[in-house]
Amino acid sequence: MPEPLGLDRGLTNYGDRDFARYLRRSMAHSMGLSNELLGRPIVGIAVSPSDFNNCHRYMPELTEAVSRGVLAAGGLPRAFPTISLGEVFLNPTSMMFRNLMSMDVEEMVRAQPMDAVVMIGGCDKTVPAQLMGAASANRPAIQLVTGPMMTGRHRGERLGACTDCRRFWAKFRAGEIDEAEVGRVENRLAITAGTCAVMGTASTMACITEAMGMLLPGTAAIPAVDAQRLVAAEETGRAAVRLARNPILPSQIITKESVENAFRVLMALGGSTNAVIHLTAVAGRLGIHLTPERINAISDETPALVDLKPVGEGYMEDFNAAGGVGAVLRELRDLLHLDCMTVDGTTLRERIAEPLDWVDRRVIRTIADPISPHGGLIVLRGSLAPDGAVFKRAAATPSLFEVEGRAVVFDNLEDLAARIDDPALDVLPNDILVLKNAGPHGATMPEAGYLPIPSKLARAGVKDMVRISDARMSGTAYGTIVLHVAPEAAVGGPLAAVRSGDRIALSVANKRIDLLVDEREVARRLESWRPPAVPARGYASLYRRSVLQAPQGCDFDFLTP
Ligand code: FES
Repeated sequence: MPEPLGLDRGLTNYGDRDFARYLRRSMAHSMGLSNELLGRPIVGIAVSPSDFNNCHRYMPELTEAVSRGVLAAGGLPRAFPTISLGEVFLNPTSMMFRNLMSMDVEEMVRAQPMDAVVMIGGCDKTVPAQLMGAASANRPAIQLVTGPMMTGRHRGERLGACTDCRRFWAKFRAGEIDEAEVGRVENRLAITAGTCAVMGTASTMACITEAMGMLLPGTAAIPAVDAQRLVAAEETGRAAVRLARNPILPSQIITKESVENAFRVLMALGGSTNAVIHLTAVAGRLGIHLTPERINAISDETPALVDLKPVGEGYMEDFNAAGGVGAVLRELRDLLHLDCMTVDGTTLRERIAEPLDWVDRRVIRTIADPISPHGGLIVLRGSLAPDGAVFKRAAATPSLFEVEGRAVVFDNLEDLAARIDDPALDVLPNDILVLKNAGPHGATMPEAGYLPIPSKLARAGVKDMVRISDARMSGTAYGTIVLHVAPEAAVGGPLAAVRSGDRIALSVANKRIDLLVDEREVARRLESWRPPAVPARGYASLYRRSVLQAPQGCDFDFLTP
């Protein structure tokens, strides 16, 4: 028997289906809905506004616009809440709660009577969580993003969260500006609703979601406060009704080929390292896995085309005005799988068939004149990271690509905070800073991989050093930074064995990160290693017992197929 549609879908279990239908309709009438509306296809709208999420401040207006589109196309919109993850308002990290949000989305999409769902997200972990949930629920779904912030101004200079937050904070630490000046900048960095204004994690996820086909064409980069964002929301509502009537499932859109397309666009954007984890997790929900070798091949073949901070100059508003994801896809045409399906029912080939009338080549370069001949991110392997580590070569200092140095080790985040600015710290500019126990098990993987330059070196003019950890890094950060080292220290990876004074070698050319300590000595050191205690109760306990390593996307073991 075909699955019932609309309000009759997934009736509550009372042992009497007709009564369940009767009861549901009675309660639906109590919301003032007519029989005509109750007979329409239902489009759920997964929303996550919160007074703890600045990036989602305009979500109520977007939700209204989606509802308008659903109603206009003959559907019944039903908005429902899920948890909201405001990046900078969560302790210990937003990453700890991404999987929780994905479970919330998956279960509510499956449990409630909807024929399609629009998921509105924005801040870093929300779009990955929604895509993961949608992939697992596998009901027709379409993503909408809140869009990026506009830039602010300070002394004639444009500012955007949060690359410029870090830049000004680094200047303050180096003594180049005083407290009053850094205070004046504070309320000019994030001046509108929306997600961070650079090609950070939120913007990267929005763009690669469009490339993967789960977001309507042309909608990833429209600024949050641009009226066109409301038009995009209305059109997303209409598209969701089309999906409800002619289902295309997430599993038909998120395929090995579309995931490869997303990785390619990630490389061309010089996008966030976090996207590697999130994309891996989304794909993993459908049993799709890309090997490190495949990711590196994609990176080596794909030129970097987009000149945005943190690796370049522009901001997301420039990218949108320059032509956005559509312009990048057209440049990459010969490298893409063009038969991939998108949420609007067309293939990628159809989507990019017509050339754009204008592209700002200062922001989006041609494939013949790229910013760099290869992509922004690579996976490193070696004796320090047998299962892999991620390196953003686009945001690193080329003179530090082939180096060997002395390790200066911090055992955990507390140790880092206590000693990094100690004038007595034994550290030289050519040393390699190492942070342990900041991985998924160690500390819920904070964005602590951007270790500060020790203040005595910063004041002496040192701008970059090789830094290594099992942590993540904000998509808005930059530097010669090796991240996501796996296995992490807190599960007994080789990182746990590193001691200050050991030698470490980084080779970007060979894609290697090696601990130059004899294997037997590493094994001897690890004999005394003990795992940290698992929390006794609640979500923290579930998280620690279930979270996988970075190369598996930090998903929970019981959520993967
Ligand atoms: Fe939400 Fe940066 S704080 S995207």
